[in-house]
Amino acid sequence: MAAGIDDIAIYIPRLYIDATDFAEARGLDPVKLQKGLGVSQMAIVDANQDPACLAANACLRIMQKNKLSPEDIGRLYVSTESAFDESKAMNSYVIGMLEQVYGQGAFEHCGGIETKFACVSGSYALYDNTNWIRADEADGKSALVVVSDIAKYDMGSSGEMTQGAGAVVMLLNENPRLMEFDPKVTSTSIKDEYDFYRPFGKETPIVHGQYSNLLYMIQVRKALDAYKKKAISTGLIKIEPGETILDHMDYINMHLPYSNMGKKALAYMVRHEWRQLPRWKTILQEIGLDEPVPQDPRGTIESVLSDADFMAKDHEFTKLFSKTPEFQEVYESKLASSLIASSMIGNLYTASLYLGFRSSLEFEYQKGIDLEGKRIGFGSYGSGASAMVFSGVIQPEYKEIVKDMNLEAEIGNRKRLTWEEYEKLHENKVDIAESMVHTKKEFVLIDVKTETESKGERRYVFNE
Ligand code: HMG
Repeated sequence: MAAGIDDIAIYIPRLYIDATDFAEARGLDPVKLQKGLGVSQMAIVDANQDPACLAANACLRIMQKNKLSPEDIGRLYVSTESAFDESKAMNSYVIGMLEQVYGQGAFEHCGGIETKFACVSGSYALYDNTNWIRADEADGKSALVVVSDIAKYDMGSSGEMTQGAGAVVMLLNENPRLMEFDPKVTSTSIKDEYDFYRPFGKETPIVHGQYSNLLYMIQVRKALDAYKKKAISTGLIKIEPGETILDHMDYINMHLPYSNMGKKALAYMVRHEWRQLPRWKTILQEIGLDEPVPQDPRGTIESVLSDADFMAKDHEFTKLFSKTPEFQEVYESKLASSLIASSMIGNLYTASLYLGFRSSLEFEYQKGIDLEGKRIGFGSYGSGASAMVFSGVIQPEYKEIVKDMNLEAEIGNRKRLTWEEYEKLHENKVDIAESMVHTKKEFVLIDVKTETESKGERRYVFNE
């Protein structure tokens, strides 16, 4: 049985910090954020928002748009790394909010859990729910997979310039109008790592930034190698001599902790694939340098990162490679459109990859390209660390969904925070009742109990 994404919706908080304001306050060159990282604005949550209400707002949008009733939804999974309870799953809060609109008990038989594995868990949730449908367990119902996060880093840390927040929800069913997942090729890699993690009770992560960048690329490459083997052995893709697996992906969506990471990772992947091919000779001639190799042949991440000479040469080589017309063509045609939303919103952890997918659909469609039958490759990464590579094909009915996409309208009017407002929000010094934006028709947090017997209980309302 087929299964895939029928529709997709987003919810982005209405506050943001602008990269120029951020750079000025932190004494940074704004060009580092805008060009070096590809960050223009970072969405920030208001005092009355948490990842559960971001998720519920996204769910309500997709349900209302598709005129779905709770009986149409067999499963609701929430994937997040911004959880606020060690036991009670975030989907239960989301269901509680949705039942304020659809009636108490309306989702009584909607199964689901919260999933966690840093930014990759949404991809595992999609895979599991796709297989629920493929196994004919869905009884004609759909699944909602919501990815929702608040990417918040320590004040003054290098991660602080890669923050963001938001939720993306995907409606999955057996007759997807948007994209059908390719069967039997989803591939993963996993390794016990500490590139980025958030110990119990800590609001912000502990991050080893450059280590995480390199680990991301290595893990996704390993998952891509496994995907390639499966794609060939299942007969999904036939690779002719001189071709690579990436030639068979019309679009490539990468996890986007900041938008330029997508380009960096694509360059790494393309180098890895092209290195074996006759075309590599031409590339080396264009660059005018040999590809650098690390001194330590074991090539561990630690040895590579501490090899300053190699790192400098490799950086230079990557920059030149990224400028070659051959790579530029791949970048512009397969990846660039997916980065637009990320630069306006920032890191959404679990939701970043899917915001990129959403962005790519809208902006490629606007170019007048017919997307039917195009294969999309996904490179998902979660710190700690696991990667997943999978793919899907755009379906004939996709225009029904994509023609109305309008990122700016869906984000809505936003308030540009002053530095003082940003600092107060970051330090949790704004009371829930003092939220900065008063939105209608949205779920908001109104109370978090502090008494011993009810500590941590959260109350939400739907603002009529
Ligand atoms: P940094 O080390 O301060 O930045 O922080 P940098 O020195 O690497 O500079 C960044 C880029 O800007 C570089 O470009 C510079 O050359 C350029 P690149 O060489 O990469 O092409 N640059 C400039 N360009 C123009 N004008 C200038 C200028 N200065 C520099 N004046 C870092 C960067 C990403 C490490 C930091 O922000 C960080 O730690 N972020 C958080 C961790 C992160 O996002 N890691 C990404 C991979 S891990 C991941 O994706 C998982 C994650 O989403 C979590 C999860 O899975 O849950 C994070």
